[in-house]
Order: sequence, then C-alpha cells, then structure tokens
Amino acid sequence: MSGLTFAAYLRDATRAHGALPADLIQTLETTADACCQISAALKRGALAGILGQAGSSNIQGEDQKKLDVISNDILLDAHVRGGHLAGMASEEMDDPFPIPEGQAQGRFLLLFDPLDGSSNIDINVSVGTIFSVLEAPAGSDAAEVAPFLQPGTAQVAAGYAVYGPSTQLVLTLGHGVDSFTLDPDSGDFVLTQEGMTIPAETQEFAINMSNQRFWEQPVQHYVGELLAGKTGKRGKDFNMRWVAAMVADVHRILTRGGVFLYPLDTKTFAKGGKLRLMYEANPMSWLVEQAGGAASTGRERILDIAPNGLHQRVPVILGSRAEVERVVDYHREI
Ligand code: F6P
Repeated sequence: MSGLTFAAYLRDATRAHGALPADLIQTLETTADACCQISAALKRGALAGILGQAGSSNIQGEDQKKLDVISNDILLDAHVRGGHLAGMASEEMDDPFPIPEGQAQGRFLLLFDPLDGSSNIDINVSVGTIFSVLEAPAGSDAAEVAPFLQPGTAQVAAGYAVYGPSTQLVLTLGHGVDSFTLDPDSGDFVLTQEGMTIPAETQEFAINMSNQRFWEQPVQHYVGELLAGKTGKRGKDFNMRWVAAMVADVHRILTRGGVFLYPLDTKTFAKGGKLRLMYEANPMSWLVEQAGGAASTGRERILDIAPNGLHQRVPVILGSRAEVERVVDYHREI
C-alpha cells in the first residue's frame, strides 16, 4: 500500500474496515490540508515575519506565539469551510467553537493542539499539530462543553503532524497506526509506513529531568533505576532524549521505542498534571496503544478517564508496554 496518497488511503481503509462516514473522511482530509498549510507557514518562518510572541495568552495562561494563533486560524478556517463538523475545541480557545449558523454542518467534533511544543519555533526545532475526532452525541449542542467530554476510548480518529526535516502525518482509525510523508512537490501526504509498532522493551526514556525534585516517589524510584544503568537493578544503560515537544518525543517512541513521562509533580499537582487530556494525552495514548504500547497516568489508563473539562490536565506515562507497566506497578507498590 506504500505510495498511496492520503485520499486514496482513506478510500482503501473503507474497503478494508467497512465504510468510513463521508464526513469523517472530509474531516481527515481537511485536517491534512490544514497541516500542509501550517507546514508551509513554518517553513517560511522569519521570512514571513511570523516568529515571536502574539502578545496574547491562552486559557492556560501561556503566552501565545504568532504561529500558535496562525495555526489555530488555519484549522478553524479550513473546517468552517469544510461543512463536515459540528464544532471544534482547541488549546488556544477558552470555549468550544461551534460551526457558525449558515455554514454546512456535520456530526463530528474535532479537538486539537494546533502547534504543540511551540517554544521550539523560535529555535527552529520540531513542533507538531495533534488532533482527536469524536462523534457529537445526537441532539447535542457543539457550543456547549458537554458533547466534547467523552473518554479517549470514544475517539473515532486521532493523529498528529510532526513538522521536522520532513513533515509527517501519523494516524489511527482504530486499526493500527500508519504514517504519511508530505510530498512538498505535489502537496500530498503519501503513505510511507504501515503498522507502526512500539517494541515492548526499550533502552530510551524521555522526561524533563529538571523537575526531578518535584516528582512523586514512584517516579523518583523508576528514573533512579534507569540512571543506575548497567550497575543497577536493570542491568543495562538507558539513554535519555527530551525534545520538549510532545509530538516529537512521541514520534520518536512510535518509531524506535522508548518511554515518555510527564508525571504528576508538586509544581503541577493543583492543576492535575501538565499535559492536556482532550487534545494531547488522549490522541497520543490511543496512537501508542494502537502501536502495541501502553499509556497511563501511573494510576489509571488514560483512555478510560471520564473528562471533567475541555482543558483538563493529566499526568502522562506512555510508550513501550513493559516500561509503562513497571511505572504503574511502582505507583501501586511505593
Ligand atoms: O504542550 C506542552 C508541551 O510543550 C509538550 O509538548 C512538551 O512535552 C512539554 O510541554 C514540555 O514541557 P517542559 O517545558 O517542561 O519541557
């Protein structure tokens, strides 16, 4: 199947797994087109005068970059024109964004982090777009938060685009994980890897070590074992990587294995964690599970969490199954 364009792949997925609803196919194609536009804006960078701060902040109190706002607008505009969604929710917007009256509407809800890891933009390092698709409950109002508050197990599609040396789109529809590379000449995403699989065992971990003194005991214990390397209980050396863009760190894990941790710590305890459930943890957890890995807060499976807010934060431990299970065990035992 390698070499298929994204549109042809979606038609084929329909053949292999039963009909995908037309408005889901349009949602995914429009999201891919929007990611292609975001990729083009990122490539122009300083030439287009779009680096730096927007001078505003989002609901999380984080300063918005110009490219956060531009990426959010690209996704909103594309999907308002698309006519296949009931509404959207984004890291960059306090409230849900229902498709305006007078525009064609569909039955799906799209949640996204338009530009994940945006502190990397000004230093020209990888960033990404993360998205999750849910079906709006019948009769629900997409201007309300309630229809969006579905657990990760209810997702009908999830994926991300990673804007690195090449732009890649990684997608799950619940039948494994496939990856597409943007052909800069044709503007098409082309299938380049089918069935991404995370090895159960790994020798690589990703965590912001500068937070070590704030972690809970189970994570202190786990990372301590990794750092002890060959001379410690694990009997092997571990390597550490931290891109500080979840998309890039998870992409590495989907590609060659590893474990990613943004655990609960005393800095983020009051907020429930650092990463956002609805448009970061849920889509990434589903991708990781679909690739044979696991995803947990340390205390529960991320996909089972009953959400209580659009911008809810959770601890995230995901990646190679054996490592995630070990961290979960330590949360029970220590
Ligand atoms: O969305 C938040 C985020 O930028 C993630 O993409 C990334 O994993 C994390 O924050 C980086 O956090 P820190 O600033 O602690 O390195």
